[in-house]
Amino acid sequence: MQMPTPAASSHLARVFAQYPLEVASAAGVWLTNSRGERVLDLYGGHAVAALGYDHPGFTAALTRQAHSCQFQSNAVAMAVRERAAARLVSFAQLPLPSVFLVNSGAEANENALRIALRTTGRAHVAAIEGAFHGRTAAAGAVTFGAREKWYGFPRTPFDVSFIPRGAAAEVIAAQVTERTAAVIVEPVQGLAGAIDLGAPFLSALRQRCDAVGACLIFDEVQSGMGRTGAPFAANLYGVTPDLLSIAKALGNGFPCAALMLSAPLAASLRPESLGTTFGGGPLACAAIEAVIEALESERLLEQVRHIGAYIRAQCLVGPVIAQQGAGLLVGLRTRRPAKEVQAELLECGILAGTASDAHIVRLLPPYILQEEHVDMLRDALAELPP
Ligand SMILES: Cc1ncc(COP(=O)(O)O)c(C=O)c1O
Repeated sequence: MQMPTPAASSHLARVFAQYPLEVASAAGVWLTNSRGERVLDLYGGHAVAALGYDHPGFTAALTRQAHSCQFQSNAVAMAVRERAAARLVSFAQLPLPSVFLVNSGAEANENALRIALRTTGRAHVAAIEGAFHGRTAAAGAVTFGAREKWYGFPRTPFDVSFIPRGAAAEVIAAQVTERTAAVIVEPVQGLAGAIDLGAPFLSALRQRCDAVGACLIFDEVQSGMGRTGAPFAANLYGVTPDLLSIAKALGNGFPCAALMLSAPLAASLRPESLGTTFGGGPLACAAIEAVIEALESERLLEQVRHIGAYIRAQCLVGPVIAQQGAGLLVGLRTRRPAKEVQAELLECGILAGTASDAHIVRLLPPYILQEEHVDMLRDALAELPP
């Protein structure tokens, strides 16, 4: 496959390392590049394209809403906004009855942290080693390694400490104390390399938060909306947070995010406690409704569980020596640097991602992926040098 050379004349800020691929169009699980060649998308735009591309129900819902009313803010009531929130609460099957609609994962986390800090009146947040929570001041403060790499603000807005993954109860207790407002955790860490933190660790965090009166925040921006094969990793592990942030697959590419709140935290909110112009816009809400409709009517969570297990059964070949993750948040551990394997797969017409662990190829495919597509991946991996 021929790769495009980046245009020297681009006016876009040069802040992204781009794959050598220019996408011209997409349908189902397939991208078409600017030369008309097809690429199998096992990365889904960083876990966003859950329904794949040009999904008929999704495209029709957005088109209908664009014709009917493309925008009104939260200052006026809209039925589509009420429906989207109700649908999300019923999809989640968690005791989190209230939804604040925002625009991005970082914004959802920023507001989750604000609520925890404000309701507890405390000034310390514990996060987990390896975590990624976004690029804004509060979300970046709880992102592991951000201060050394890109944070840029002179100080964090609150005290932060990082708990080692899988730490014992005593270690958690030393870090989560009566001065802790919140513990924020990705139940399955995404950027770190699809690292499943598991029920015992998540339950230990829940117990310690309960003991000291801190809020537990699940960042399910990447692991949520069915990616693990359950509505949320919270369902998978039977651990309920006080606040849960969602983005990525929520809008299948239409930018939107949500923060789900427990009843007591929701009761602490007053008009103007939080705010947004674009959050909960009608196009975003139509997208959310259409995504949940497709997940439920097409039984896509079953498909996630089935194809996730099929990848695990088939893809321990070539340079892949182990696998980790949950559902379709998959980390393939490679003997050679993952970037080499990623580049070789792209040469074979398969797009995969990497992670902050240099030996993890990360797969975040659309939930409509079929066995035949996994067979293509397996056959391509089997041909690569080990
Ligand atoms: C777990 C997690 N939290 C938060 C974010 C930030 O989301 P956004 O880029 O929408 O601000 C990401 C993005 O990759 C993520 O993976």
